[in-house]
Amino acid sequence: MLEFGREEPARLAIFISGRGSNMKTLVEACLNGEVDAKPVLVLSNSYAAAGLEWASEQGLPIAAIDHRAYDEREAFEKDIQQTLELHNVEFIALAGFMRVLTSWFTDKWEGRMINIHPSLLPKYPGLHTHKRAIEAGDAEAGCSVHWVTEGVDEGAVIDQERVPIEAGDTPETLAERVLAREHILYPRALGKAVEDFYDREEASDDPTSESS
Ligand code: GRF
Repeated sequence: MLEFGREEPARLAIFISGRGSNMKTLVEACLNGEVDAKPVLVLSNSYAAAGLEWASEQGLPIAAIDHRAYDEREAFEKDIQQTLELHNVEFIALAGFMRVLTSWFTDKWEGRMINIHPSLLPKYPGLHTHKRAIEAGDAEAGCSVHWVTEGVDEGAVIDQERVPIEAGDTPETLAERVLAREHILYPRALGKAVEDFYDREEASDDPTSESS
């Protein structure tokens, strides 16, 4: 009988652009064993991202690749890819990473890259989600974690959390309520996504589970 399963947890890169509060919850969930992944890199498109400092204080490798130094998106992504290869990254969690990725990159990482988005997808992909939900008169808002595909915020949803929209909410008060749920949602969804990745990896190694 063949034995399946991994000896090591998936090597995880977390991409940020700013504060990095979601990155922090993911790192903590991995380190305390809630999620079966190992953070091996925190990467930002901005040297100024506050989250880089926290990550570096935890002893995590960090990288900053400034997108403004590139004329073409693909050249920027090629440098990201090279950095990921240097760190033997196997799985990516986008956590407030504010760059749109081209199909050159998303195709390479399909099934191994997830993102958190502050709306109940498929509602409100893109920016200004809280303002749009309030202006539409929605009774609830929330956040979603989804697989990353070429279309922005279009990949299959892995999990969601909901919050009520209260009378007098502003985009800021709603963002704060949603963010607290993001911190609950993202570690849970990362755990599910990584398990799904392991299952697919195992199935592709299993000679009895050939697909037709
Ligand atoms: C979060 O609201 C996330 O959903 C969105 O960007 C924000 C990032 O916040 N994509 P943080 O950097 O994780 O604190």
